[in-house]
Formats: sequence, C-alpha cells, structure tokens
Amino acid sequence: MTTAPFGSNGRSIELHLSRRGLLGALAALPVLTVAAPAAASARSFSGPGYRGVAAGFVSVAENRADTVTVPEGYGWQRLIAWGDPLFDSAAPAVPAARGAPFPQTRAEQEQRFGSYNDMLVLFPQPYTYPWPEGPEPARALMCVNHEAVSPFLCAPDATQLTERSARWTGTADQMEALYAAMGVSVVQLACAPEGGDWSVVKDAAPGTGLNRRITPFTEAVFSGPAASHPWIAAAGAVFNHEEAARSGPVRAAGAIKCGTMQNCAGGYTPWGTYLTAEENFRNQFFTSDPQSAVLRDGHAADPALPADREMFRYGGGWPFGGPAQYDLSGNPQGPSLYGWIVEIDPYDPGFTPRKHTALGRKQNECATTVIARDGRIAVYMGDDNAGEFVYRFVSKGRFNPLDRTANRTLLDEGTLQVARFDEDGSGAWLDLTLETVTAAPPIAGMAPFTSQGDVVVRCREAARRLGATHMDRPEDVQAPAGGDFMGRGSIYVVCTVNTAEAYKAGNAANPRRTDAAGQPELNRTGHILRIDEDHGDHTSPTFRWGLFVVGGDPAAERVEHSLRDGTVINASSWVDGRPVNSGDRFGAPDNICFDRAGYAWISTDGTSDVFDCNDGVYVAPLGTSDGPRPVKRFLTGPVGSEICGPFVAPGNRSFFCGIQHPGSSGLEGRSYRGGPGSPFSTFPDGGWPRDAVIVVRRTDGGPVGT
Ligand code: FEO
Ligand code: CA
Ligand code: CA
Repeated sequence: MTTAPFGSNGRSIELHLSRRGLLGALAALPVLTVAAPAAASARSFSGPGYRGVAAGFVSVAENRADTVTVPEGYGWQRLIAWGDPLFDSAAPAVPAARGAPFPQTRAEQEQRFGSYNDMLVLFPQPYTYPWPEGPEPARALMCVNHEAVSPFLCAPDATQLTERSARWTGTADQMEALYAAMGVSVVQLACAPEGGDWSVVKDAAPGTGLNRRITPFTEAVFSGPAASHPWIAAAGAVFNHEEAARSGPVRAAGAIKCGTMQNCAGGYTPWGTYLTAEENFRNQFFTSDPQSAVLRDGHAADPALPADREMFRYGGGWPFGGPAQYDLSGNPQGPSLYGWIVEIDPYDPGFTPRKHTALGRKQNECATTVIARDGRIAVYMGDDNAGEFVYRFVSKGRFNPLDRTANRTLLDEGTLQVARFDEDGSGAWLDLTLETVTAAPPIAGMAPFTSQGDVVVRCREAARRLGATHMDRPEDVQAPAGGDFMGRGSIYVVCTVNTAEAYKAGNAANPRRTDAAGQPELNRTGHILRIDEDHGDHTSPTFRWGLFVVGGDPAAERVEHSLRDGTVINASSWVDGRPVNSGDRFGAPDNICFDRAGYAWISTDGTSDVFDCNDGVYVAPLGTSDGPRPVKRFLTGPVGSEICGPFVAPGNRSFFCGIQHPGSSGLEGRSYRGGPGSPFSTFPDGGWPRDAVIVVRRTDGGPVGT
C-alpha cells in the first residue's frame, strides 16, 4: 500500500518510488535488441520481464459463423446489449422485429445502455490506489463508450441510399434518440462467487445510484487553453440556446449542453476517472442550407475554418438532419465542441464531465494514462485517420494518491507533443506550443496560429507544420502498467490500416509490402509498433521504436491473395525479408490491452475485409524467444461485427470485450441495411442484431489465455 504522500513534494516522490516503484520499474525495463541493423523497420524486441512463449489455448479456426467462438475449455456470457435498461423504472428490452423493440425516444434511450459499445473499463468498487490486481472482484463499476448509432436498427422505415447512408424521416424526438444512443454508460456489475456469472446491478431510477448515461445532451465544461476559444464560445451559445427549450437552463457554472459523442476508445486514470475519446464527431453534423449567410460569414470571418476542412466539412455524414445545434448552417463552429478527451468520474455523478482542451482536438482514439518517474502524468493518444499522428501529453502537476479531487485537474495544464519516427529506429516527441509551431516553416494555405488555444483546437494542422510522422491510422496507443499505473517505458501503437493513395509510399515506421513489380502496396492489414521511451522515462523527449506484430499472413514472404473485388495483393506479414510474427493470420488490429501474465490481447476491425474470417481477438506474448512472435486467435465474433474494448479483469479470470455492429456487413454483400425480411445476424438474442458486451472465462475457472 502507498504510505508516502506521493506528489506532495519532490522528496516524498523519490522515497515512494525508490521503495516500490522505481526499482521495480527499472528491473522490468525491456531491453531493445536490434535483430537486423540494416533493416530498420524489421527490428524486434525482447524483454527479460516478459514471457516469450505462445499462449496456452488451442486457436479458434477461421470462420464466418453468426456467433461468438472461443477455444475449447472456455465459455462466454452475454452481459448487456443496446437498449437494456439501467434502471428498474425502464421496461425490459424485448428483441423482435426490426426497430420496434428499441428505444424510440430520447427519454427512453437516456435510461438504457447505448449503441455501438466500444471501449470498456472495470473500476474497483470501492476505489483504492493502487488498483487491486486480483482476485476477481465481487463488485465493479463498468464504463462503456458508445461510438455510433445505426438508424437501420432503430428506425423501422430506414432504407439504404448508399453503402453508408440512409433515408429516414423520424420525428424530432426519434432523431434525438439516435444522438442519445451515443456517449457513455456507467453500469454497476456484480460477480457471483466462485466463478459465477457477472450481472448488471440496476438502480431504481436515474439519480438514485451510480448507474447513468452521459449523452450529447449532458452538460460538460471545458478546461485548458481553448476553454475560452471564440469558436467554442460561439458554438456553446447555440447549443445552450437550443437545449434550453428542451431541458431547461444550464445548471453547472460555465457548462455547455454538448455532452460527448462518437466515443471510441479512451483510458482510465490512477485517480479513478474515465477518459473517453471523441472520434468521428463530424459524422453527426449536417447542413440544411449550404448557402446560409451564417455559414458563409463564419468561414469568411475566420480563415482557419475552411483550412481545417476535414473537421469542418460542409454537410456531415448524417443525411436526414437532427437537433438544430448540429446544423452547420446555423452553427458553423459546432464541431469545435467535439474531438476532445473528456474526463468522467464514475464514482461522483456530481462531477460535470470535463473536456480537456490541453490534450488537443483531433479524431481521438484513446487516452492511455501512466505515471512517470517524477509523478507527472503521461497520456498517449492516437488520431485515427489516414496519415494522422501519435500524441503524448505530459502534465505540469504531479499525481497525489491521497487527493482524488485535486488529481481531477491534472489534465488541465501540461505540454502536448507529437511523435516523429526516424529511420534509424529513434524518435522524438515534438512540443506543440505556439512558439514551436510559429517557428516551424509555414505551410501554404494554412492560417497562422494566434494562441495556444488555437494550437490545440487545430492540433492536426500544428502537428503537420512541426513535421510529425504520418501514420497508418493510429488507433489504440497503450502502455502495460500494473495497478500502480507506473509506466515501464514501453508503449504499443496500433496502426489499423491505411488505404489512402496519398500515403501509399509509407515510411520507416509504416512499412510497405511490395507488389510483383516491386512497387509499394497500400497497408490493408495494419501493424503494431512498440515505443520504448529513452531511460524508461515517460517524460523523455526521445525514444526508440520497432515492430511488435504485423497484420497479414505469416506463411511466406509473398502470399498472393485475392480480395472480394478481385484485387490481388501481397498479404504477407513479413517485413524486409523477415517474418515479424508467426501463427494465425489476422488483419486490421484496432484495440490492445495487456493481462498480468505478459500477453497482449488485440481486437480487430477489418480482418474480414481481407481474409474469409470474422473479426476477432488475438493473443501474443510481450516478450520474444528466438524467432518471430507467436500470435494465436482466441475469439471470433458474429458475422458483420468488429471486436472492441478488450479488457482482462483483475485476477486474470474474466476477459471482457464489446461486440460492435453485428450484421452490419458480411457474406455476399448482404447486411442489415435496408434489407427486408430476416436479419443477416441475429446476435445476441435471436432477434434483430444488437451491440453487446460479453465476458469470456475458462470453464475450470483458471486464468484466461495462459
Ligand atoms: Fe473508432 Fe478508430 O475506431
Ligand atoms: Ca477503434
Ligand atoms: Ca473500431
């Protein structure tokens, strides 16, 4: 247990770390080995603190089944699905015909589990620091992200216009229900003793316990350098004006009724708060009048707005309108309220969700928190778009295990940095400050930056100007750390795929296979990098990097493979003439977590785009013996789903994950989109498909994966 007042002054930090943190961290520091100095992108790692042997289960075979498949000796349970009530006051969800059983009003959805469950975390109940590492907890608080919503599932008369858009004319309340399906769920869980099932513990009604929904209509406050940015002020006024008629005046000082949405991955802090990452927020904005004077004048008045076209594009992905505050025609700066890392306190419903602008505005995928040696907090983030970047934030203040309230302001102030990966296997974190960005060579067409608030709001542009390395859609960026959250210096960066022609050439950290003519191919199967911070220090300005695993087929250096459209690719997972990993083939890694036995658990979102297999979960040792890293397929999801939110519970006996959008796509081009008759997937209850969280355990109650 921690006894020293960690963070209250430099001396106590030193004492604390020298006793239980620093020596342990130093002992566990992985050793970088350069297996092939001439082939910089094919280095591999080994570490004396990690096991290098393959996981112990027998791999699941490739399949296209409409169910969850786990290894022999394992079983799974459905824990909760979209529409399930969080309160006794809401009626049970009864899956039946298309659309009908699902919440059709905003008020209904605000009492129910949201859609498209992505990241999930189990918080100890009650909170302690360090977090317990076992045994299996009897009670926990689960936070779950709800990334998106599909009108095809909840609107009975939605029909398909194109592959990605729908026609639907719902009532205003039904449209608001779609928005309210996104955000975050906080759910109390109980685990029956001696390996019994996990279950949801409902509260009587909203406000009577810790279960709650945070939606795009919940109040949020902004902290950090952009808290008073003129775009946020202007957009916030529109949001609060539109919501006043619907839900009354704002209650928390300075709050904006924009809540959070498009919540993909995220993180959790040593002080017991949840960090949710807002990713594809632009999808929810629309334009009822592209020629509106407000929109035209807004862009004319602020030259930076059109330069950030990807974040402010005219006409979002939502083709049938929505609440007025999301109409760019009347609120051109509306998107500036999203793209942030948002802190939520699951133990304290009175804490207004806090948007930390110091961490930068982008299509955030995650926010992984570790405690650095000096007690400062490092937060790692990926920006999931082709050619976007990997970020680190280092707090100004230090963690204090005795003051949870004070820790909730640690992310208000610090230094935001972006990664540059050099060809020789080294790298650097570049400070994103007004001074450094202004001093960097200007880019034609990019508006000047006028404040630090401007730098964090237009984070992507600032990173480009600094010369950061373009990546293959960096999704999860995670660091193995125990219940004390002390980082050991290693970070894993999951690059899912990159099919953008603009980045076809790749770079050292984003290697390319070549076609028969020796030309680079698009990265269709993804890869995972490992970063080792220099000296194991999560505040170090420099690092080393190498490949951890590469998606694809490890069978040979050239594996010619036909995609569904007839394109022939080299699907090999070899790089520079060497197999980086062995075992089961996979594609499009998305999320990664770590168990306490030294294994990485990797979930995929797009394996079925390349191979004839549903998305799944793959397990690989963090260390290596001689030879390529052995990867094994632990789980496959139902057809059309991707797997999200892998999480190994303390005690290593329960593996949680999210089954997202079952039936959304699949064999022979069929999907639930617009098709009458029987649904393509009936997961999990035999009716129309629903997103769900599941738990996997060994039938003998032993540790999973080993
Ligand atoms: Fe929401 Fe980038 O996956
Ligand atoms: Ca993701
Ligand atoms: Ca995903």
